[in-house]
Amino acid sequence: MGLFTVPEARAELARLRPVLDELIRLRADAAELAASLRPGGRETALGGMPEWKAAQARLDDLMTTVQRTGAELKGFAPLLIDFPAELDGADVLLCWLEGDPELRWYHRVDLGFAGRRRLPDRVAAVSEEIAAGLFDGVAAHYDEDDFHGLVADALVDGLGSTAPERVLDVATGTGVAAFAALRLEPGEVLAIDISPGMIAQAEAKAATRDPGKIITWQVASAVPSPVEDEGADAVLCASSLHFLGAAALRDWLRALRPGGRVGFSLPLASAFRPSAAFAALVPTDLKLPETEDEAAELASEAGFTEVTVKRLDVETPDRTRSVFVVHATRP
Ligand SMILES: C[S@@+](CC[C@H](N)C(=O)[O-])C[C@H]1O[C@@H](n2cnc3c(N)ncnc32)[C@H](O)[C@@H]1O
Repeated sequence: MGLFTVPEARAELARLRPVLDELIRLRADAAELAASLRPGGRETALGGMPEWKAAQARLDDLMTTVQRTGAELKGFAPLLIDFPAELDGADVLLCWLEGDPELRWYHRVDLGFAGRRRLPDRVAAVSEEIAAGLFDGVAAHYDEDDFHGLVADALVDGLGSTAPERVLDVATGTGVAAFAALRLEPGEVLAIDISPGMIAQAEAKAATRDPGKIITWQVASAVPSPVEDEGADAVLCASSLHFLGAAALRDWLRALRPGGRVGFSLPLASAFRPSAAFAALVPTDLKLPETEDEAAELASEAGFTEVTVKRLDVETPDRTRSVFVVHATRP
């Protein structure tokens, strides 16, 4: 098998995520079943010998799936997966250990796990540059169908009746949510995105859609957002949290004033089928929701209160796009 680049290994890890989740679940079932089968073992509702055999067979299938990608499964409990790669001319293994939020570690092949180091920042940072480049590439035709406008309207509708003075639109893209927020008559809107191409599209539209220049456009990374602590009354984030990861939720708690509102949307897990290039950008520390309850948990487990969730199904020319629209309050 060939070598992985860091983005390729991250994309493969993102694709393997459901396989790894199932492996972890079944591993626990198999351990519980094996314990119950030992002399004097405690009975389990999971079953007996046939269920244990079925779990072992399925675990073998799942491990084969991991190995077919070209990654090496080095550990089972905890899971340890190595992706052969090259770094500065040396053969290395990019290394993911169960519990790691993303692929951020490597070790030289000859050193093994004891030689494990964090990937240098310059390598990790490449992913933001790559993300910006990918989104620059789609900016010109990004918002041609109704989907983004409908999500933005739903996000703004749920912010509440009190007009927010300072709004932050995170990963604004071509500015759809920032423009939608103008109907709340805020004092100021800060709209940020890492893609200069997206921001350029937004600025071109602003000439007619924001003549009063309420919106400030800024090329900036979402985390940490360029907002002082408690500096925002409302945060919007349309269709982007899955590219930012759990750190963004923590950052919004920091940036919002107590009582401030957040509105974000996330795709339904089973409906999210990004290309390999975009999949490589998706952090692994935020599990996409399949149900309203799972979407609500993301906000409440991060520390938000008054969480509400609505599912939105939008017909676009090529498919139905399903998202959860989540609103919550910073306590
Ligand atoms: C799917 S688009 C959503 C754009 C817009 N919010 C909308 O709903 O139309 C995702 C956006 O996230 C931006 N993005 C991705 N990673 C980012 C990061 N780390 N910091 C800021 N923006 C980011 C991309 O440049 C892109 O514009």
